[in-house]
Amino acid sequence: PFPQYERMRATAPVFQDDQSGSWHVFRYDDVQRVLSEHATFSSRMGGDNPSGTGQLFASSLITTDPPRHRQLRSLVTQAFTPKAVDALAPRIAGLTDELMAEIAGKGSADLIRDLAYPLPVIVISELMGIPSEDRERFKHWSDVIVSQTRILPASETQDSTTSEMVEYFLALIDQRRSRPGTDLISSLLAAEIDGQKLTVPELLGFCALLLVAGNETTTNLIGNAVLCLAESPGTLERLLSEPALVPQALEEVLRFRSPVQSMYRVAVADTVVGDQLIPAGAPIVAWIGSANRDGQQFQRAAEFDVDRNPNRHLAFGHGIHFCLGAPLARLEARIALEALLSRLPGLSVASGAQLERMDSSIVYGLKELPVTWQPA
Ligand code: HEM
Repeated sequence: PFPQYERMRATAPVFQDDQSGSWHVFRYDDVQRVLSEHATFSSRMGGDNPSGTGQLFASSLITTDPPRHRQLRSLVTQAFTPKAVDALAPRIAGLTDELMAEIAGKGSADLIRDLAYPLPVIVISELMGIPSEDRERFKHWSDVIVSQTRILPASETQDSTTSEMVEYFLALIDQRRSRPGTDLISSLLAAEIDGQKLTVPELLGFCALLLVAGNETTTNLIGNAVLCLAESPGTLERLLSEPALVPQALEEVLRFRSPVQSMYRVAVADTVVGDQLIPAGAPIVAWIGSANRDGQQFQRAAEFDVDRNPNRHLAFGHGIHFCLGAPLARLEARIALEALLSRLPGLSVASGAQLERMDSSIVYGLKELPVTWQPA
């Protein structure tokens, strides 16, 4: 998509698609503004999307405006602060070790299937108290859900997937209601806002958002990181000798191959963006993936540079909806990458591999990532 973004930033940075009526915003400053000016650009859109998936996310953090957004978010911020997340590091390292032990002797693997996918799923499942035998199902659910854009009518597959997911979560919520634990779902069940419990759609929204939205994106951050490093001569070796550089390198991966390429908003009032008047009620797509390649913000924007600093990318959004899971995603990706570097010597993308991207304009990542190395 990157050459197309570049063309749009240069020729039509605020553009209306005649077919769908949606507006598309491509420049860094405009994307940042659309993401963060929540009084002008609303996140509420689930209600406009009649599909099952639209309804499922309709009462979640990501589709809620203040004041409800602030109230809902305050219930989960504690669980995701950098400090709370750091406490998970030993467990994440242990899980990474287990996954690495299964492949280290083999000399080749699909890094998506064998590491990047299972790691975030297991971590969030444990946080939410999901039984381990149920994890496999999320893969299918999230695949179907991310392949949908909100503007297109949902397909039957999407709707049946959503019903399956809703049934699963309702059963899980019931179970926790009768036997509370120390997991996130139990704490959401106990939470009150102004003396009121969360509604069932709000509980479902949390489950769906945490289990689906956070997993696929972290998987893709890890996969995209390996791809960026493999393509950039010498960087794998450099990170191996300077592991302290890994977090900064991951920020550059987030900029250069953003796992989330676009987010939606709806204009609350007639608003001028760039030199275009966007009318009240119009859907807007903010192209994060384009903002992160904008030469007005980043020098040599089209180059992957692990030394880039500062790096004010918008990969986790901006403003009140800034990604709740960012500290967790960063920690998981750092641990995974360090393990790959130290345990898979000579790591490279398998020669002749056809790298195919996932079928989505929102999520950016590879379906498979075949790699090889010299097993010890
Ligand atoms: C919000 C990206 C990982 C949970 C967001 C937003 C972006 C984003 C761009 C802003 C949405 C908006 O402005 O409308 C990413 C990326 C990730 C990642 C690139 C991985 C590399 C995670 C993880 C979790 C998570 C691991 C949970 C464990 C959330 C939640 C929100 C959110 C709950 C909604 C926050 C709100 O509306 O207040 N994420 N995310 N994300 N993310 Fe992430």
